[in-house]
Amino acid sequence: MARAGHIVADVMSSLKEVIGAGVTTREIELYADERIRGLGGKAAFKGYRGYPSSICTSINDEVVHGIPSSRRLREGDIISIDLGVLHDGFYGDAACTFPVGTIAPEISHLLRVTEEALNLGIEKAVDGNRVFDISHAIQKHAEAHGFSVVKTFVGHGIGRQLHEEPQVPNFGTPGHGPRLRKGMTLAIEPMVNAGTAEVSILDDGWTAVTGDGKWSAHFEHTVLIMPGRARILTKF
Ligand code: MF3
Ligand code: CO
Repeated sequence: MARAGHIVADVMSSLKEVIGAGVTTREIELYADERIRGLGGKAAFKGYRGYPSSICTSINDEVVHGIPSSRRLREGDIISIDLGVLHDGFYGDAACTFPVGTIAPEISHLLRVTEEALNLGIEKAVDGNRVFDISHAIQKHAEAHGFSVVKTFVGHGIGRQLHEEPQVPNFGTPGHGPRLRKGMTLAIEPMVNAGTAEVSILDDGWTAVTGDGKWSAHFEHTVLIMPGRARILTKF
């Protein structure tokens, strides 16, 4: 798990070198895929339930599962990259929303709050707590800033499969949900919208967009539950 997570982290941190105005999302995918292979991994999403690409590239009002294409990034856009790797039988999964050049201050705030929500969730990912302690911490932080959490998609257990039990929603009642135990590995992944929490799916069958066209951010880490503090396996 640590090795798979390390590949995810390495590739994710290298992406800031290629993300910029004028680049296409397909170019970003090719760069990522080459680097994943170079590090001995395999892109986990390609072929998963028929998903056609190695990574997800979701721009602006696209929430998750955007498919790489000939679309070019423009100054002021945001792009959420979601990246899963299979290495030696184990999975790692992470996501990050990157600014393209200079972005509007309110969008910068959305990104900051979403990343903070992930970190607050991870702080609750401790042996003896419950899954919805994580969920609640994420929801509370996002909503305190006037944003909404997406409920249609959730975080998940991860290990020998990309998606395992338990589900890790980004909303919930503290003190509820399955008990967290040391050795469990979870992908925690808040998707936070500037406006409505509602999403719809485009005709490509994958791309999830916000119901009102306002923008959305997505941050994700794979973590290992320990007594005290979780270890972030995809830290970059
Ligand atoms: N991080 C997302 C997840 O865990 C990405 C999945 S994309 C898919 O579900 F193509 F694999 F579905
Ligand atoms: Co995930």
